[in-house]
Amino acid sequence: MKTLVVYFSRADENYNVGTVEAGNTELLAKEIITKTGADEFKIEPEDKYPANYQEAIERATEERKTNARPEYIGDVDISSYDTIFFGYPIWWGDMPMIVYSFVEKHDWDGKTVIPFNTHEGSGNSGTYDILKSKMTGATLKGDGFNMSGSTARTNDGIEKLNNWLNTL
Ligand SMILES: Cc1cc2nc3c(=O)[nH]c(=O)nc-3n(C[C@H](O)[C@H](O)[C@H](O)COP(=O)(O)O)c2cc1C
Repeated sequence: MKTLVVYFSRADENYNVGTVEAGNTELLAKEIITKTGADEFKIEPEDKYPANYQEAIERATEERKTNARPEYIGDVDISSYDTIFFGYPIWWGDMPMIVYSFVEKHDWDGKTVIPFNTHEGSGNSGTYDILKSKMTGATLKGDGFNMSGSTARTNDGIEKLNNWLNTL
């Protein structure tokens, strides 16, 4: 069994957590990588999101409005992995458009996908159902895992993540 963690996460100034060096979802992703020994692919935008929260919001709004598929740096061949943890923040009740860019570029047939996300109130916001419909041929394992971004930055949050990992 080969496992990969794919995630998108934005650092810098963010809602409820001030200015951070690593985003909330990234903290969860790193813990999953540590605990499972999985390989890592971070979806990094070619055109970095602004560090300023308000400017990042404006960019995200524009991308959503135009149904954009922003480019990301490099890529990963997912064909050799059986299980893929897939993580992202909720942006406007949805996945960031750059996450769609990744999903649509890959062949998900036969993969076991375990989604996780952070948010500030929206839960998974129906995005696991979107993943199910977009990742043709994949099996989404369990109920996934979602947590508020501010909780993800606490020991309590990391403990909850580990409790969930132990159920898989
Ligand atoms: C552009 C943007 C839109 C957001 N929209 C929502 C939303 O609709 N619902 C919600 O609960 N949180 C929303 N948030 C909050 C993020 O989901 C939350 O801060 C998340 O933990 C950020 O993860 P990251 O640090 O990994 O990027 C939004 C944040 C940004 C920057």
